[in-house]
Amino acid sequence: MSSKFYVTTPIYYVNDKPHIGHAYTTILADCLARYHRTAGDEVFFLTGLDEHGQKVQQAAEKRGMSPQAHCDDLAPRFTDLWKKLGIQYDDFVRTTQDRHKKIVQAALQKVYDNGDVYEAEYEGWYSVAEERFITDTEKESGQFRDVQRLKEKNYFFKMSKYQKKLIEYIETHPEFIQPQHRKNEILGFLRQPLGDLCISRPKSRLSWGIEIPFAKDYVTYVWFDALINYISIPGWGSDEKKFKKWWPANVHLIGKDILTTHCVYWPTMLFSLGLPLPKTVFAHGWWLIGETKMSKSLGNVINPLDLVDKYGEDAVRYYLMRDMVLGDDANFTLENFIHRYNSDLANDFGNLLNRVSGLLNKHFEGCIPESFVSEKLIHTTHEVGRRLWQEAQIHINSFKIHEAIKTIMSLVQVANSSLEKEAPWKLIKEGNKAAAGHCLYTAAEALRLSAVALNPIMPGKTKIVLDVLGAEGTGLKWGELKSGTKLKLHEALFPRIEVEKK
Ligand code: ME8
Ligand code: MG
Repeated sequence: MSSKFYVTTPIYYVNDKPHIGHAYTTILADCLARYHRTAGDEVFFLTGLDEHGQKVQQAAEKRGMSPQAHCDDLAPRFTDLWKKLGIQYDDFVRTTQDRHKKIVQAALQKVYDNGDVYEAEYEGWYSVAEERFITDTEKESGQFRDVQRLKEKNYFFKMSKYQKKLIEYIETHPEFIQPQHRKNEILGFLRQPLGDLCISRPKSRLSWGIEIPFAKDYVTYVWFDALINYISIPGWGSDEKKFKKWWPANVHLIGKDILTTHCVYWPTMLFSLGLPLPKTVFAHGWWLIGETKMSKSLGNVINPLDLVDKYGEDAVRYYLMRDMVLGDDANFTLENFIHRYNSDLANDFGNLLNRVSGLLNKHFEGCIPESFVSEKLIHTTHEVGRRLWQEAQIHINSFKIHEAIKTIMSLVQVANSSLEKEAPWKLIKEGNKAAAGHCLYTAAEALRLSAVALNPIMPGKTKIVLDVLGAEGTGLKWGELKSGTKLKLHEALFPRIEVEKK
């Protein structure tokens, strides 16, 4: 049964060019979007950029540029990278666009009219890096960078009013915050009294933001602005039909760094606006370099462009999706990348194509042979192939994309080892060409099926495989490969990366 699937990524700050962490969440969203499109669902995949706030203003100042010129200059770094990585988003929001700004103002006005906003003098610690006020305890934890003492009159959103409602909601909707340990973290946080949320910044301190409609000397807090993107773009306040179709989102994909804003600020804002909450907020872990998070401000980032230029976008997508257990942290190293590339892509997937096409060219004039199923020759490959998609889908629907990939790759491995065991070249020598043909058909069909199933992960290379097999547009049922089809010529799919030994 097909349905709709609305998936989002965080909108990234444009204070620098994108790194592997940003690429990761965006590729993940793209893979999920592609799987859902394959399943026949109607998909809306939204990503974009968070262009207001102190961080971006500071980055622009450092470059001696106006904030808008700075954003306009950096935005293509993101969209160009997404293009290179094969990201098929349906819309790309920039928070400086009018279509977004006027909706943020409408949301502020609505929350204000509901009586959920008040004015007060505030003194406290502010983390520029996180763009939020932090408590004394948080400051003492030493986990926050760029901390300043601030004292000013501001506008506050009555977040505390919704604390009880939020706790009840989380407890009765186990799928809302995932994985489970993040849900427990938020419930732990909500056991403490919840403060109200400062949603304004005086223009005298920060001018780079959206003006508050009921307080012209203020701009709105960057998180109040940014979170609204999830409803402004699908049409809240501008296109009710579109909005009804897409909202609530099926999943907001985020990193664990922005859990509180998405699981506390955002739902209370939605409560105040009278809107349903997203079905799921899924927080993945961090890509680490050694023990520390890869981050722009720490200067230890891996540039995804370098990897893509050297090894291709499909290998990068594959590695990121395969090597992170969704929800946990993972370590990024070039050694791991090369190891994964050589073992899974060169030795298993690429090699299966090579052997199938090599043997077919040698013994079957380059055509897909006839297949028959005899008691003796029912391959394990066949069995694995039949179960494959069901199993993979269960993993995908429970956000275990690495498990889905593992399942699909097990078919590739079984096909390779069956080829070795059944040795079609020997069968030919023994005069049993039909059995050899069956064996090769099975291997080719396993290759086709795995290419179809891996297509959302590696859209480019799997398309080549399907093209070689003359199987474009085929689906996930075992046996769709047509006997008699002539194979096309191809080059090595994933040439082995030779590592120099020191
Ligand atoms: O927080 N590992 O933007 P941001 C994995 N503008 N993912 C990582 C990562 C890493 N080392 N580093 C970054 C913001 N990410 C706000 C969001 S949304 C309404 C506003 C990914 O540029 C991950 O998805 O700091 C993380 O949550 C996001 O980039 C933060 O991007
Ligand atoms: Mg950040």
